[in-house]
Amino acid sequence: MKLLLGQTLGFSDSPFDLGIEAATFERRGGVVVDGGMIIATGTADVMRATYPQAQIIDYGDGLITAGFVDAHVHYPQTGIIASWGKRLIDWLNSYTFPEEMRFADPAYARKMADMYLDLVIDNGTTTIVTYATIHPASVDAIFEAAAARGMRVVAGKTCMDRNAPDGLCDTAQTAYDQSKALIEKWHGTGRATYAITPRFSPTSTPEQLSALGALWSEHPTCLMQTHLSEQVDEIEWVKSLYPAARDYLDTYEQHGLLGANGLYGHAIYLEDREKDRLREVDASLIHCPTSNTFIGSGLFDMGGLMADGHRIGLATDTGGGSSFSMLRTMAATYEIGQLRGRPLHASELYWLATAGSARAIRMDDKIGNLRAGNEADLVVLDLASTAAIAQRASRAKTIWDALFATIMMGDDRAITATWINGVPRS
Ligand code: GUN
Ligand code: ZN
Repeated sequence: MKLLLGQTLGFSDSPFDLGIEAATFERRGGVVVDGGMIIATGTADVMRATYPQAQIIDYGDGLITAGFVDAHVHYPQTGIIASWGKRLIDWLNSYTFPEEMRFADPAYARKMADMYLDLVIDNGTTTIVTYATIHPASVDAIFEAAAARGMRVVAGKTCMDRNAPDGLCDTAQTAYDQSKALIEKWHGTGRATYAITPRFSPTSTPEQLSALGALWSEHPTCLMQTHLSEQVDEIEWVKSLYPAARDYLDTYEQHGLLGANGLYGHAIYLEDREKDRLREVDASLIHCPTSNTFIGSGLFDMGGLMADGHRIGLATDTGGGSSFSMLRTMAATYEIGQLRGRPLHASELYWLATAGSARAIRMDDKIGNLRAGNEADLVVLDLASTAAIAQRASRAKTIWDALFATIMMGDDRAITATWINGVPRS
């Protein structure tokens, strides 16, 4: 049993609903960890007195919170992050697809999976939801690499049967068969969760979408992840490929791919009907701000969609996103909010990167919060990690002001420790 001491921050509710009243902060707090679980949280004094047998790890002024939950990434795009000058469709064809072809080699897939997970752990991220490539071995690679680190990870084989290179295409039937075999192998094994993964409507035939919709109805506890309304040209293309569809979302809905366990990445240019349906079924929208600015996609309406009651998670979208860091991702969320006239509070940003993302991927009963009974996936932040941040933080009068400086200017140097399943991993 271990007792971590420091400043502690958790949430009893969403700050989008309750403001800072939704947060639980202790200036001198303690987190008791045992057997991979959070056993108790409270003031340092009470925790010391209640658990005298615990081994103490004192992080001083470090801020202990739940680890970050990155709700949409492409681990196979690690090698092509920050590739210059293209918008979505050209970016996929020029950079992404050639790199994803390399994952036909299982040894390369495993090497990149290991490299990627080490990078995100160094950035304080403890759970990722990732696309693999078309190759089943690329799914094995990420789940095996995650198991070696004790990480709770969601992943799925990316399915495409048109508008991609031959080497990256399966069929409706092989997409179904291979995804089903992977579900049977991985879903619920240790900390692995499977996500059925049609890349997006332009790279699937209606037959493939239907096959994956059927698979989801046969395995309803799986998540389903895809892309939705990211760029204007993409939406026009979808309309031409699916002339009978009412809108982009309808291309999924008509094929059994709209549901509560669905994760819809980007969702920037939603029509009213799409918003209504997404809210009715309580599906999750995943905001990927560094991707949306980097690929030139547009400005997600966080304020409006939250006010309307949507379930929203936060993600890097590596490597369309330009960072592995959820701190940088929170900063970009703030910047996009400013451009839309809705500056998000530090509590809202931090909630999105932890409890909000966990809620979006339907795991808020397990991860994403500093709460007894949750799994012990934690990050410890240094709120004075650089001279620039330290001088700003020294003027801060509240934890929110101090935390905001690290959100806006922090990077992996701000990560003092990342605990996964009760074990310090960096
Ligand atoms: N839409 C379809 N595939 C992708 C992808 O790999 N990245 C992003 N950002 N958008 C996509
Ligand atoms: Zn994506």
